[in-house]
Amino acid sequence: MKLAVSGKGGVGKTTLTALLAQIYADQGRQVLAADADPSPCLAGALGFPSELRAKLRPISEMDQLIYERTGARPGTMGGFFTINPRVDDIPERFSVEHRGVRLLEMGAVDIGGSGCICPESAMLKTLFTHLLFRQDQVLLLDMYAGVEHLGRATVDFVDAMLVVVEPTRRSLGTAAQIKTLANDIGLKRLWLVGNKVRNSDEADFLYRETPGLPVLGWLPADLAVQEADRLGLPVYDHVPALRQAAEEIVKELKL
Ligand SMILES: Nc1ncnc2c1ncn2[C@@H]1O[C@H](COP(=O)(O)OP(=O)(O)O)[C@@H](O)[C@H]1O
Ligand SMILES: [Mg+2]
Repeated sequence: MKLAVSGKGGVGKTTLTALLAQIYADQGRQVLAADADPSPCLAGALGFPSELRAKLRPISEMDQLIYERTGARPGTMGGFFTINPRVDDIPERFSVEHRGVRLLEMGAVDIGGSGCICPESAMLKTLFTHLLFRQDQVLLLDMYAGVEHLGRATVDFVDAMLVVVEPTRRSLGTAAQIKTLANDIGLKRLWLVGNKVRNSDEADFLYRETPGLPVLGWLPADLAVQEADRLGLPVYDHVPALRQAAEEIVKELKL
């Protein structure tokens, strides 16, 4: 099962991805979570201990590895490099596992869009496609914005894309844009997930104003989320209200 989580910066993609990852892992499923944010923070949200986090580095920053695999140094223009480097060993070699969740940091991924044709993007693009082909029980992709990273060819493999929104018109506007982009590349299985919802009026607002995306559920606003961050604890452990809401979302997803 492959799930992508998208939405504007700051809406709660990483918080939701971490919750879903831990819920599936605790069900005994094998989970691979890929952090595609240029400044990765999924490890923190999952409560990875510092000695494991120290082992993680975004693939996009591994200049030597990119050089070995593509034949060119990142940052160089022109010249020849392979556009489908070997990547099959990367998920195992460069991920770390904690409480049943295996985490891979991709770094800035620019896939599918007009992005640059350079060794690092060839590497990430190939890795991304490889992840989508792998037979992991659960693959979760924490995207950093919209669907620019999802090329047409890969759309078929994503079972669902969750678009996280705050209960504001601006946030729903971004969701509408993501929907358009996603539909353009043929991705139709999209759901809206509300976050930072303070009361039933705000929840009703989402159901009323959704840009045509079915609402899968919502997570309440809770100051304990920031507290968890300060204490270095996963929201999953520290904020029962969010964990329960995320469990409902998993039930609704039925994947
Ligand atoms: N339900 C919530 N209640 C309160 N604060 C939240 C909630 N969800 C997320 N936050 C806070 O909002 C900020 C952005 O969350 P994050 O998950 O990192 O968003 P994104 O990955 O979309 O950028 C973080 O400081 C986080 O602690
Ligand atoms: Mg994030």
